[in-house]
Amino acid sequence: MAQYGLIGRSLGHSRSPGIFASIFAREGLAGTPYGLFELERVEDLPALIDRHPDLRGLNVTIPYKQAVMPLLHGLSPEAATVGAVNCIRIQDGRWTGHNTDIDGFRALIAPHLHALSTHEGALHPRALVLGSGGASRAVAWVLREAGLRFRVVSRNHERGDLTWDQVDRTVLGVCRLLINTTPLGMWPKVDEAPPLPYELLTARHHLVDLIYAPEETLFLRHGREAGATVANGLAMLREQAEAAWRWWR
Ligand SMILES: NC(=O)c1ccc[n+]([C@@H]2O[C@H](COP(=O)([O-])OP(=O)(O)OC[C@H]3O[C@@H](n4cnc5c(N)ncnc54)[C@H](OP(=O)(O)O)[C@@H]3O)[C@@H](O)[C@H]2O)c1
Repeated sequence: MAQYGLIGRSLGHSRSPGIFASIFAREGLAGTPYGLFELERVEDLPALIDRHPDLRGLNVTIPYKQAVMPLLHGLSPEAATVGAVNCIRIQDGRWTGHNTDIDGFRALIAPHLHALSTHEGALHPRALVLGSGGASRAVAWVLREAGLRFRVVSRNHERGDLTWDQVDRTVLGVCRLLINTTPLGMWPKVDEAPPLPYELLTARHHLVDLIYAPEETLFLRHGREAGATVANGLAMLREQAEAAWRWWR
């Protein structure tokens, strides 16, 4: 029987087994094994695949989304562009890396893009993408595809358009869609939040957090308290899993 699973380092709280159990049940494949494979080092991947000859697909999570790339036989165009792999197809001895965060983020952001274009008319609001890692690049792909202009905020001048101290009243006046792609606020460090002047948020802002645990991060709470529209990363998590399943089949 084909087997699937997740590689990463601390996977105890992963939601992936539950999401894939629902997908397998829907597909008439209830009982398909989905393993949580904690790897000390990414170099242990070939031995893992040797030990599990029925593995057909793997999800990849922090901290191996980039480190796994040199171990693979090929990459999809999406994985090559984003520079990160979040799922691997294992077929005929070949391991091919793909990135489905693009599909996931497209599903998460669609209602917000629609609301922004409906409510803002000719104003052409922009987005602010917080952080410049792998998920940020998937977000950038989707925003470009949607024709929405954006700025990336990074701790480092070379990786972003703005540093955190440059996010002020002018920037937040134009950038109505704020997307957190940093891990700030992720469980268990729930008291952290991206360092922004939250007092400048209004009911016309949309705050989207890729984090889904906790369901309401401090970032989203600040947005909700200002009357902004908010969304966490659960819809993205579900859709990236659906897209991984389509890629493996
Ligand atoms: N919902 C989903 O399906 C989904 C999918 C993918 C990712 N995610 C979530 O998205 C987050 C990022 O994932 P990723 O794979 O992109 O991680 P990553 O490659 O490590 O990138 C995170 C980026 O956040 C910034 N950052 C990290 N620590 C920071 C700090 N202390 N202060 C300020 N900025 C900091 C960094 O950007 P700079 O170096 O530019 O400052 C870093 O490149 C994680 O919370 C992950 O769980 C969710």
